[in-house]
Amino acid sequence: MNVYDSDRMARLLSHHGYARTESVQDADLVLLNTCHIREKAAEKVYSELGRLRAMRDRKAEGEGRQTLLVVAGCVAQAEGDAMIARAPFVDVVVGPQSYHRLPELLARRERSANAIVDTDFPVESKFDLLPAGGVGDDIGERSVSAFLTVQEGCDKFCTFCVVPYTRGAEESRPVTDLLDEARRLVALGAREITLLGQNVNAYHGLDARGRSRGLGDLVRMFAEIDGLERIRYTTSHPVDMSDDLIRAHGEVPQLMPFLHLPVQSGSDVVLRAMNRKYSSDDFRRVVEALRAVRPDLALSSDFIVGFPGERDDDFEATLKLVEEIGFAQSFSFKYSPRPGTPGSLMNAQVKDTVKSERLARLQSLLNEQADAFNAASVGCRTAILLERRGRHPGQLVGKTPHLQAVHLEDGDAHIGDIVDVTIVARNPHSLAGERAERNIAKEEPGA
Ligand code: 5AD
Ligand code: SF4
Repeated sequence: MNVYDSDRMARLLSHHGYARTESVQDADLVLLNTCHIREKAAEKVYSELGRLRAMRDRKAEGEGRQTLLVVAGCVAQAEGDAMIARAPFVDVVVGPQSYHRLPELLARRERSANAIVDTDFPVESKFDLLPAGGVGDDIGERSVSAFLTVQEGCDKFCTFCVVPYTRGAEESRPVTDLLDEARRLVALGAREITLLGQNVNAYHGLDARGRSRGLGDLVRMFAEIDGLERIRYTTSHPVDMSDDLIRAHGEVPQLMPFLHLPVQSGSDVVLRAMNRKYSSDDFRRVVEALRAVRPDLALSSDFIVGFPGERDDDFEATLKLVEEIGFAQSFSFKYSPRPGTPGSLMNAQVKDTVKSERLARLQSLLNEQADAFNAASVGCRTAILLERRGRHPGQLVGKTPHLQAVHLEDGDAHIGDIVDVTIVARNPHSLAGERAERNIAKEEPGA
């Protein structure tokens, strides 16, 4: 979502005389868009700011040019005035729900001796006020695989998570706005759109007739857009996997058979303490229902180890769940107490050495599963969407429906093409493909 927000901010500023630079040295304005979800996020931002300040001072001395420093995103939201107290050389601090005001904040900064801080959750929606496109050499927008924020914020209040505090209350954008934006992205060359939201499957936007529509409906409407070949969505919450959305996985061919569904833990005790609102068996049932309608569905997930009170048997329950379900890809983290969240105040915080041990064990299992998943693709035929050039001349990089990166050397192929390939080899971080000779390769299961 930060990639999407950064792009929207760049598009907005392009209407006010700014264009993107290749290097930070050349910039008149440097905008750090920050994430606060884990670990020492604020510390990292302050050390980056220290580097930028040194660069800015050198430039001011050498060339006599001023550089504006803007901090956006969730660290800006969480720190607010404290950021200016600690880094008084920052010009503007702006939160994720008020960045449509950037031009006005920059103008105010010009007139004022002091830094400007805007961490409001305004009543107006930034999406109603941001320009659709940019001016001049427009950034990110022209990508084959585009992001589109459909829902923002979260009301779930998992006890480990800062999102409800930094991104604010859950809100869905209206259907018509999203269809317009999607058609625009497709006209600019997008063949795949990933619908974004902190809790994307809680989507409930209003349609043109004022009816509330769910994510399953939205996916079906997106599937009607000419030229849009692939649809994905992220990130989901297991309790919001409605029957209708599950059905959409079986009915909408454009909806790719890959789903990121964070489970966090396999222990019911820990899930309850996390306020996740489901049991490990509820999660198993959701996966079963999805696989019943889409047998080739690959899953990825997020895991937290060392949540307060997590005992050895809780952790073993997580390993058991992973063994049972099998994940194609995963993200796993040591629990990190976030300021202002209930988890950070809980007793029985787990020692860091224990967290590290558990993380290592979990990651070795998850890596094994990811390796096995990729290994099983070798020899299979699949379709890849070519997204960018590779490092070697003539090489293109595409993605399989299961989100695996595939390298292809083929003089006739172009970025934006979807081509049938046979996976011929596996490299550490990608697969290698060749144009498929039909009938030779075995079909990828279910594909
Ligand atoms: N500590 C560790 N991991 C966290 N996540 C969110 N908050 C924390 C935290 N305090 C992880 C969750 C979430 C992912 C985006 O980040 O696994 O799904
Ligand atoms: Fe955070 Fe996701 Fe829980 Fe919302 S549902 S509080 S975004 S982890």
